[in-house]
Amino acid sequence: MRFQGLTFVTDPGRVFSPRLTSEHLVDAALERIAGEPARLADVGTGSGAVAITLALRAPQIEVWASDTCRRALDLASLNADRLGARVHVVQGDLLDGLPRDLDLIVANLPYLAPGTPGYEDEPAAAVFSAGDGLDHYRRLIAGAGDHLAADGAVLIQFQGKVLEAERSELPWLVGRLESLVAAAA
Ligand SMILES: C[S@@+](CC[C@H](N)C(=O)[O-])C[C@H]1O[C@@H](n2cnc3c(N)ncnc32)[C@H](O)[C@@H]1O
Repeated sequence: MRFQGLTFVTDPGRVFSPRLTSEHLVDAALERIAGEPARLADVGTGSGAVAITLALRAPQIEVWASDTCRRALDLASLNADRLGARVHVVQGDLLDGLPRDLDLIVANLPYLAPGTPGYEDEPAAAVFSAGDGLDHYRRLIAGAGDHLAADGAVLIQFQGKVLEAERSELPWLVGRLESLVAAAA
């Protein structure tokens, strides 16, 4: 599939296929990086589309890409090799195994309540998160402070929007997500 003008190999049904809405996450990250050196992690990288595109578009940054799914990470590594991107691929839950002085954490993690219809073609572990659907993001935000530099930030994709929070604004971000879930109910 084409993503930000690049061609990515996908594995439909086994690894989440990137959506064009994730291009907004790339644009927001590039705007935030503004051509400066940075250390960035893409958490829940799937096929690697976001991490790899950022590594290619901003070659001055160092990029980590993490996921729990081995098959996703193998695909991300394949895509990075094919496109000539340098990305550190890490298997682990959310921020496990990632550096503690990141400038930016970007994520498009599962955020649908279990059983939400319409996503039967995607792996359940890629789209559903426990309870109201916010378990992954709540845990990511709870741990983000320990992995961000003092002036670092988090950029997450949620319901087609990109939400951004400075390190000091992380509690606000949880409240924002909860209000969006409540509004959609
Ligand atoms: C909605 S998909 C998005 C994939 C990719 N970021 C994109 O936009 O195309 C969510 C991804 O998060 C991964 N994931 C699920 N639980 C995770 C966890 N606890 N830690 C890290 N990654 C996780 C899934 O395997 C899946 O690849």
